[in-house]
Amino acid sequence: MTRQVSLSRWKQEVERALSTFNERSAMPSRLHDAMTYSLEAGGKRIRPALVYAVLETYGRPLSLGHEVAASLEMVHTYSLIHDDLPAMDDDDVRRGRPTNHRQFDEATAILAGDALLTDAFALLASTNTSPEKVVALVASFGRAAGSRGMVGGQLDDMLAEKQSGVPLETLQSIHERKTGALLVYALEAGAILADASESDREALKAFGQHLGIAFQIQDDILDVEGDEALIGKRVGSDEQNDKTTYPKLLGLDGAKAALDREVTMAEAELASLSVEAALLRALLAFVVGRNH
Ligand code: IPE
Ligand code: IPE
Ligand code: MG
Ligand code: MG
Ligand code: MG
Repeated sequence: MTRQVSLSRWKQEVERALSTFNERSAMPSRLHDAMTYSLEAGGKRIRPALVYAVLETYGRPLSLGHEVAASLEMVHTYSLIHDDLPAMDDDDVRRGRPTNHRQFDEATAILAGDALLTDAFALLASTNTSPEKVVALVASFGRAAGSRGMVGGQLDDMLAEKQSGVPLETLQSIHERKTGALLVYALEAGAILADASESDREALKAFGQHLGIAFQIQDDILDVEGDEALIGKRVGSDEQNDKTTYPKLLGLDGAKAALDREVTMAEAELASLSVEAALLRALLAFVVGRNH
């Protein structure tokens, strides 16, 4: 019960922050419409939830995290808009709606993604904390989202399409970057804002690495056996694009066993924290038990 309550509360917090920060003024209205279309389409808001969960775990006010949480969701949303483009996964449905390029057009979708990415950094830089922390947050966010993180993982994910014999370590590295990097950043950013100790910060990052892989394995599993009405995207997209995924390499049962191993390692990291981590444990359970 607590789990459900927290998740929906965190979701509301970030959605309120997003609508405040994403002002219509001084931008083309078509651009604002396209950005808002994807931002307001819902989504689980897991990355903001991780930021808020770390703040609550350390007894800090959620208001400290609004810029971090909203900018993270903006970058995540841009990554989804671009991921769905015909040149990438070529998907028609996202968050239960036509994808951005289907609703608008490809050029608008590309620019809406560009704008979300760029505006996110301006927003993050306005975080009301010390200049040292702002610099640390911006640097860490850039590393996680960029060529060595999410974008690099997306490129390698594309290169692994239609390949047989991709080693499991390569797939793990793709998952770590395309999905794990932003989740690790969410935890690290929460830890920076909350002044967590160095050893807690390391444990939170290690937790994030396992959570990230687990998250993408579950995403791959849902692409095989999920319910389209619940996940809000097309089932079977990975098979159609001949993606290299955990189910493809290990079979569904093998993928589920790999997921369990990541969960066990993630839980061990939480147990090593200096604080009680019930909220993060609940988020982990949600991520791996989710059906959407
Ligand atoms: C989907 O992310 C893309 C991946 C990184 C697996 P989410 O499953 O968090 O998507 P939303 O935000 O809930 O729509
Ligand atoms: C994409 O992974 C991860 C991103 C960085 C967007 P997927 O391509 O599996 O994500 P979905 O299934 O389309 O949400
Ligand atoms: Mg993809
Ligand atoms: Mg995709
Ligand atoms: Mg997927």
